[in-house]
Amino acid sequence: MTQVHENIVGLDSGILMHPKIWEASGHVNAFHDPLVDCKHCNSRYRADEFSDDIENIHWKEIQCPKCGTTGKLTDPRQFNLMFKTHVGPVEESGTEAYLRPETAQGIYVNYQLVQGAMRMKVPFGIAQIGKAFRNEIVARNFIFRTREFEQMEMQYFVKPGTDDDVLEEWKEKRFHFYPDVLGINENKIRYRQHGDNELAHYAKEAWDVEYEFPFGWSEIEGIHNRKDFDLSQHQDFSGKNLAYFDQPNNDRFLPYIIETSAGLNRMLLAVLADAYWEDEENNRVVMKLHPRLAPMEAVICPLVKKDGLPEKAREIVDMLKPHFKVLYDQQGSIGKRYYRQDEAGTPFGITVDHQTTEDDTVTIRQRDTQQQDRVAVESIIQKLIELTNNWPD
Ligand code: GAP
Repeated sequence: MTQVHENIVGLDSGILMHPKIWEASGHVNAFHDPLVDCKHCNSRYRADEFSDDIENIHWKEIQCPKCGTTGKLTDPRQFNLMFKTHVGPVEESGTEAYLRPETAQGIYVNYQLVQGAMRMKVPFGIAQIGKAFRNEIVARNFIFRTREFEQMEMQYFVKPGTDDDVLEEWKEKRFHFYPDVLGINENKIRYRQHGDNELAHYAKEAWDVEYEFPFGWSEIEGIHNRKDFDLSQHQDFSGKNLAYFDQPNNDRFLPYIIETSAGLNRMLLAVLADAYWEDEENNRVVMKLHPRLAPMEAVICPLVKKDGLPEKAREIVDMLKPHFKVLYDQQGSIGKRYYRQDEAGTPFGITVDHQTTEDDTVTIRQRDTQQQDRVAVESIIQKLIELTNNWPD
């Protein structure tokens, strides 16, 4: 966001913010999930797990998925998702604060400061990565839904009237990010538009990028048109004029906001699910991660633990360390070492063997094809860069 786009800057705002911010944003009154309980086995569910149209369900006819009892589910109750705490030593009313449920509000309350300091002109964006906290009724599906997670949000400030077109532009860009940058299979992502009954309190229009996880299609990122909802609320609550002055046109307006809101943890889960490959022909499990995303880019292995091969392998590790994330492994047979790294997604295996001591060459093995090429030690860096840049989609 901030490197490729000249009109987007980064920010790191507070996690604890004044409770008035969350009143202004609407989160105190409207950031709820509907909760139903089973009075027989005490299981707890999000009501929308049963249907998108929870208003028209006859709850007394629904069976509890856990204990199988019918007629014991309660009607939905609204449950606020924010974590509350107290600022200062005494827990009394007036000292309450909330852990942020989205990073976005930290951007809105700092928008004028950032715009002035960075001399930004509409349209411009402010992006931020950081922890968000939600007291989810049920946290499940591994890291898909947790109570503490990392958001990567970008708020794009635009002139009212241009918002619909800008939303389309960001929808397009964000969709292509998944196959083009993360290497995710295009057939496993799609857009889903929010219906009127599921739109967040701030949204005029909302789209989810969904990934087809092993447990079904689910949201990984939201693209929203938030209009001037947030800025006008903060303006009202703070009494401070938050209008943007458009000097060339001598015009003042509250910008509309197009938001791209991605979850790092969900994105990671999608990358892992997408990369998982059972290579039956070779009886191995492979994480087909793009080299850019792999936790380790190369493993360096001496073929045997003697004859000077470990020392030479260590030299190569030291040579590569400033350029790539690499690790050294001499434990077990070479085949086992390769397979261990295939499972961890390491794309390249560099082996030092007896020929290395004669002609200063090594083999570079590619994880997915298992193809091996002999390369001069002095050319390893260049070769790894080439292989990474030409990595197949
Ligand atoms: N600022 C807008 C906003 O927060 P959201 O759709 O509620 O929108 C955005 O959340 C993204 O944050 C989601 O697409 C998801 O990736 C991530 N996210 C939300 N709740 C989460 C949770 N409990 N655990 C992990 N990620 C979550």
